[in-house]
Amino acid sequence: MIRRRAGRQRGRGVAQLVADFGHQLPPLARPPMRPQDADPFPFLVGRGGRTGQAAGWCPVPAPLAVYRMTSEQAGGVWPLIAGDGLPATGALLGIDYLSGGAFSVDPIGWTLGGIAGVTNPNMILFGAPGRGKSGTVKMFALRQMAYGYRTLILGDVKDEYEPLCRALGVPPHAVGHGLPARINPLDFGPLGNDWTGLPRAEAQRRAAMVFSRWLLLIRGLVGSQHVPFGPTAETAVGQVIRDLTGYTAGADRMREITIPQLWQALRAPTAELVDSCRYATSQAFLDETRPVRDALGALVTGHLAGLFDAPTTVAVDWRAPIQSLSLSRLDPLGDEAVGVALTCLNSWGRAMTQLAEPGDLRIVIRDECWKQMRLGADAVKSLDADLRLSRNDGCIQIVVAHKPSDMLTVGDAGSQAVAIAKDLLHLCATKVLLGQDDQISDELSDLLGLNPMAERIVTDWAASAKGRALWLVGNHVAKVQTVRTSIDVALTDTNDAIAANGAEVA
Ligand SMILES: Nc1ncnc2c1ncn2[C@@H]1O[C@H](COP(=O)(O)OP(=O)(O)OP(=O)(O)O)[C@@H](O)[C@H]1O
Ligand SMILES: [Mg+2]
Repeated sequence: MIRRRAGRQRGRGVAQLVADFGHQLPPLARPPMRPQDADPFPFLVGRGGRTGQAAGWCPVPAPLAVYRMTSEQAGGVWPLIAGDGLPATGALLGIDYLSGGAFSVDPIGWTLGGIAGVTNPNMILFGAPGRGKSGTVKMFALRQMAYGYRTLILGDVKDEYEPLCRALGVPPHAVGHGLPARINPLDFGPLGNDWTGLPRAEAQRRAAMVFSRWLLLIRGLVGSQHVPFGPTAETAVGQVIRDLTGYTAGADRMREITIPQLWQALRAPTAELVDSCRYATSQAFLDETRPVRDALGALVTGHLAGLFDAPTTVAVDWRAPIQSLSLSRLDPLGDEAVGVALTCLNSWGRAMTQLAEPGDLRIVIRDECWKQMRLGADAVKSLDADLRLSRNDGCIQIVVAHKPSDMLTVGDAGSQAVAIAKDLLHLCATKVLLGQDDQISDELSDLLGLNPMAERIVTDWAASAKGRALWLVGNHVAKVQTVRTSIDVALTDTNDAIAANGAEVA
């Protein structure tokens, strides 16, 4: 048996092996020692830097926090570190505190470039009152104008866009009792241009677009009076519209109609109308359409009489950088009246923006939009339709609301209106969350899916100064302070009224 020696057996080295056979290896000459190797760092600089004037010496070492973690854990410790910022295109709005860089907003560019998974150019802003929602929107619109965008303010409920319009040299149109501006929600808009010269198929296509917009509006107006607008009413109204415009008779040129004319035609139906709607008698027609007539009558004879019931007198200049319709004179009539006015303007605005030429870029602003949405399911559907169209007509639609649960106040829990309103959130790829109170944090997580850290940014960081917001751009997150220039300060200040009252009290 072979006894193993303890320890590791070492073989002979090469020199030993050669010596055992009577040879000697030549000795290795030691390499000459280079002077610089002796002390590669002859002048060490201390942690405070070099001493001496203007040499960058600091008396206290920089306070560096040191964390140790795996790269897998880093995403959990800083979940909101978003990596690179968004591309620097579009309106330069402020500072992104997550990437540390400038923050630019370019919804159309994001959509076209598929940046951060953005699939539409719509934006929705939420924020407690006075946090700077309108200010952010004004600055965005103003800066986008440099790139050729034109802005339409569809209902300026507080007349707060007037300073911006005046600064751009475009007086806003004021709508209210005793003022000359009239808006016909049943306006043809540009779709009515050159009707006589159109090929038959194109004329029919345009007529279908116009009629469906009108029916959507009338459904919204009737629905706002809590009157259902069923298929029977729709058949009757559709027939009246086709008769009054001359479409039924195959007229070359369609006549513009107004809501009083529609109302009148439903009040005194012709024999042909009764027949085409398949009623046995005029009385049956009148009985069946009474709720719809009464609801429309509110516009013709009620508190909004004289505003939306005559041909449009406002000439929209699409070459101008901005167009605004001031509605503050309607404020004493209550939220519902303002909501109805917004619905009419909505339809009119859609007429004005239909058939936009390619490359004609627009921003449509709906500030205080919740007033319109509260009118019911049809008002919400109308907004929904506009947001869906924005991809096709090159429009950036901006909706301003207070809190995400505004979407739930449009109807009963589980109703169709609430379902559509919740869906509106998904139709706006860019969500801007300005400061909110702590009580809103549940809504932020439930309706917008924010994680606790993002929630805290909205309720703490954003709530501690005006113009701060968490921007959700597709799947990208930015923590932005909007920065006002001296020009912006004058155009975005909405505290004048409070300041003036305060001065009076003092
Ligand atoms: N980026 C900003 N930086 C500093 N102050 C701002 C900024 N944006 C707006 N403000 C100031 O905050 C005040 C309120 O702004 P704004 O009217 O835009 O708020 P809001 O959220 O639209 O309010 P409301 O809900 O009442 O419409 C304004 O007077 C304005 O001067
Ligand atoms: Mg506002």
